[in-house]
Amino acid sequence: MKYIFILGGLCLLLASGFMATGQSDVKVGDEALGTRKYDDFQKPEFCGTSCHVDFYRQWKQAMMSQAYTHHWDEIEYFKLAVPHAEKDPKVAGVKAGCNGCHTPVAFLAGDVPPPLPEKNSRANESVSCDVCHTVVGFKGDVPHNFNWISNPGKTKYGPREGAESPEHELVKSDFLASADFCGTCHNEKSPYDVWVKSTHLEWKAGPYSREGVKCHDCHMTYAPGRSASMGNEYPDLRQHLFHGAHDPGKVAGTVELRIHPDIVEAEPGEVVKFTLVLFNQKTGHKFPTGSVEDRIVWLHVEAKDAAGKVYHLPVDKKGFTGEEYTIAADTLAYQDMGIALNDANFKGVGRDGVPVGDRIFRMPYFDPQGRMTIQQWNTKSLGVDYRFGPKESKIETFTFAIPDTAAPGSLTVTAVLNYQKLVKPVADFLKVPPDEAEVVVVNRHSTAITVLD
Ligand code: HEC
Ligand code: HEC
Ligand code: HEC
Ligand code: HEC
Repeated sequence: MKYIFILGGLCLLLASGFMATGQSDVKVGDEALGTRKYDDFQKPEFCGTSCHVDFYRQWKQAMMSQAYTHHWDEIEYFKLAVPHAEKDPKVAGVKAGCNGCHTPVAFLAGDVPPPLPEKNSRANESVSCDVCHTVVGFKGDVPHNFNWISNPGKTKYGPREGAESPEHELVKSDFLASADFCGTCHNEKSPYDVWVKSTHLEWKAGPYSREGVKCHDCHMTYAPGRSASMGNEYPDLRQHLFHGAHDPGKVAGTVELRIHPDIVEAEPGEVVKFTLVLFNQKTGHKFPTGSVEDRIVWLHVEAKDAAGKVYHLPVDKKGFTGEEYTIAADTLAYQDMGIALNDANFKGVGRDGVPVGDRIFRMPYFDPQGRMTIQQWNTKSLGVDYRFGPKESKIETFTFAIPDTAAPGSLTVTAVLNYQKLVKPVADFLKVPPDEAEVVVVNRHSTAITVLD
């Protein structure tokens, strides 16, 4: 397997005219720190001002162009990761390493830590055009932790054979078209050797990779147009959308819900069981994926009687190991933020911040002391994985004893599936602007029964 890859890699390198001394000498990942200069890479404005205007505008609106400057990235890196790295030798590498994915040119230039975003330095370019379009492959068996091979210069790698540009040479790259390319940044191992980001691995294990549907087909969709203002018209241009968690429209509808009762008429005191089928029809990987340590998806179910009185239905327990992390509770967590914040007795903040008893679809991350953490670099183990796999359906039930106070007539039961990028108690505590903790409705469905006199 490894040899096949090395051969493939060599062919690619030879075909591209890149005279490497051999792949084993190429420095990637942590070892590539300080091996380049900022000037080795073009600025995105250079690519986007007169030639690739549409792609530039799309990229500007995507998180790719903000991976270093976005508020939550800035807060997590400067408030938590950098001070933590300076105190704990085990995680010291992340002071530089976060930027291997978030602002690769700053990382390659050895700028550690880069200036704050407000200084407007070149680190603000984040994942820029020239980062991706000068990657020629990856080193190792599994793409992860920025193990891409960067070869900046006059040659740009892209999807077309024989295309011409007055500015640069163009070489067709099968690697850029592969999910492995995305995996170099969308899989991450913590310093404790735990997979803390595995979007590409989830995809690879799932149905879409078998069907040949790759990341690009959902996040860089094909549409007709010109890739450059003076270029040819093509029917199949890869749109530079990179839309994900920060696009509520992309998240909406990801999971479909259908709820039904076991009986359609009941007297007060009688027990009705509501069954809910939740189908992940939209993601090519798990949902939630990526920054799983931050994200929650939760199911809130309420009944409303004919008089308008509302009752909250807690989810029925299933009894699997670790289930307590998947049912909202009034519990404190994330105590390891105290390390960076110089507060050894830090009690933590609310774990969930959503109504107690709601089902949460998540995978908890644990620090070396076994406490739940949102610091993926300080993650030593993972808990139960109760997320939606691609095309997976999950069933949840809600057993409800009709209250004596319920008014006779129609009782409507509504299930709402919500999504949040960052658990609210953490967002509030770290003063992350509210949009990071906004509640996005993924989907909803209702059913009704009749309450008899
Ligand atoms: C995260 C990586 C990434 C970034 C950032 C990125 N691109 Fe791309 N680009 C790609 C991939 C992947 C393809 C398509 C590869 C394929 O399908 O074979 C592509 C395709 C292209 C194409 C060829 C389109 C065609 O169909 O002929 C152009 C031109 C291009 N990108 C320009 C840019 C410009 C300009 C920027 C910055 C504003 C940019 N890219 C940013 C990954 C990236
Ligand atoms: C079949 C379509 C499909 C495929 C294939 C697919 N995705 Fe997604 N992806 C989605 C949808 C829909 C969302 C929005 C819901 C969500 O956040 O998971 C999403 C979300 C994301 C997010 C944001 C997750 C977050 O929580 O911030 C990332 C990152 C991502 N995808 C990367 C990838 C990568 C990398 C691949 C390939 C290895 C890939 N996707 C393949 C549909 C797809
Ligand atoms: C050089 C590293 C790198 C590569 C290569 C890369 N990404 Fe990303 N990507 C990132 C980073 C960093 C973010 C997170 C931005 C943030 O929220 O700070 C991100 C975010 C995303 C998101 C989420 C946007 C959102 O709304 O939350 C999607 C979707 C995505 N990437 C898709 C892709 C796809 C598809 C590919 C391959 C064609 C790819 N990425 C290749 C680094 C990379
Ligand atoms: C292997 C590549 C990689 C490394 C290393 C990495 N990240 Fe990320 N990071 C990503 C990708 C890709 C995403 C987007 C995943 C998603 O959309 O959920 C992301 C997302 C994030 C987000 C969430 C952004 C949002 O708005 O939701 C934060 C914050 C973040 N990273 C901070 C860090 C910090 C701090 C470090 C270092 C301790 C770090 N990252 C190391 C690739 C990486």
